[in-house]
Amino acid sequence: MLKEQIEKIEKEALGRIQAVKTVEEILQLEIEYLGRKSDFVGILRQLKDVSAEEKREVGKLANAVKIQLQEKFEQAKQKMAVSFDAQAEKIDVTIPAREIPLGHLHPLTQIQNDLEDIFISMGFEIADGPEVEDEFHNFDALNMPKNHPARDMQDTFWLKSQTNADKKRTCTDETQTGADNVDEQILMRTHTSNVQIRYMETHQPPFRIIAPGRIFRNESTDSTHEHTFHQFEALVVGDDISVGNFKFVAQEFFSKFFEKDVAVRLRPSFFPFTEPSFEFDISCLVCDGKGCSACRGAGWLEIGGAGMVNQNVFVAAGYPRNKYQGFAWGFGLERLAMMKYKIDDIRHFHGGDLRFLKQF
Ligand code: PHE
Repeated sequence: MLKEQIEKIEKEALGRIQAVKTVEEILQLEIEYLGRKSDFVGILRQLKDVSAEEKREVGKLANAVKIQLQEKFEQAKQKMAVSFDAQAEKIDVTIPAREIPLGHLHPLTQIQNDLEDIFISMGFEIADGPEVEDEFHNFDALNMPKNHPARDMQDTFWLKSQTNADKKRTCTDETQTGADNVDEQILMRTHTSNVQIRYMETHQPPFRIIAPGRIFRNESTDSTHEHTFHQFEALVVGDDISVGNFKFVAQEFFSKFFEKDVAVRLRPSFFPFTEPSFEFDISCLVCDGKGCSACRGAGWLEIGGAGMVNQNVFVAAGYPRNKYQGFAWGFGLERLAMMKYKIDDIRHFHGGDLRFLKQF
């Protein structure tokens, strides 16, 4: 009796599993046939009222049917799942890809790239030098011997004296002179002018180079001073390079950089490594020289230092005295960025505040 009922359920269930079309249906059917309230489970409950022999026989059958149905449900579910996924897999290849959040270049790097592009278009090469530098390349060779008062212009981070072996590891440039002098002092370079020396030690004129890079000054910080910032050195050397060449190149560069006609003005100044030396200004970007609040009425904005290369520097780099002429300049990259983007505090650049950086 129970046996027939079970066989009937089995047959019916198998038939319906065959006909099922969706995952929802198969889940529904599983509950209907194997769930707690199903006829099948009802039958199993009746087993306690039958003879021991029938119980054994029917129990065996019920178990086999249950396992078989469970398997069929599982198979059906898997089949459904596959065909279900296949439907979802209908990919519309024309839908634009989801945007992956990407970072971007730091504003200073962008500025540096812009600068390099402009100078390369004017036939300049890009040179590089170490940030950890020796006293010779940062000071002595630039006509600033020990105890020279000009050294005080640049407060220096001195590094603890090291052994030769250590030094070879920290200095990136193998061509450095004086590497065998154990007592030589090492420092964080205070300007990019060290690249002047390093370049001239290994190259002969004529040449035009620029050297952008990070520099370090042992100073307290405020809205216009940082202990770590960037400079941009230019050095042009040949047989008859003149101040006129400097003025022209500077004017070309700043006009391209600020995308407007910019005038350059020189004022006498002093640097040990240039003679004559000057500070150079550009006409105010807001009022074009008329005088406004941005330039505090002056009509001019201070840019940096420049001059004709002092012959002592050529000699220190290994050139003969009075054979070549050249101009050099150095200015702060942050300052340029601040002027271009009207940024009021130099500390923003390395402050790590993403709200600032995301504006560029
Ligand atoms: N090295 C100078 C400084 O850091 C700038 C400079 C470079 C001046 C080249 C003249 C020539 O202030």
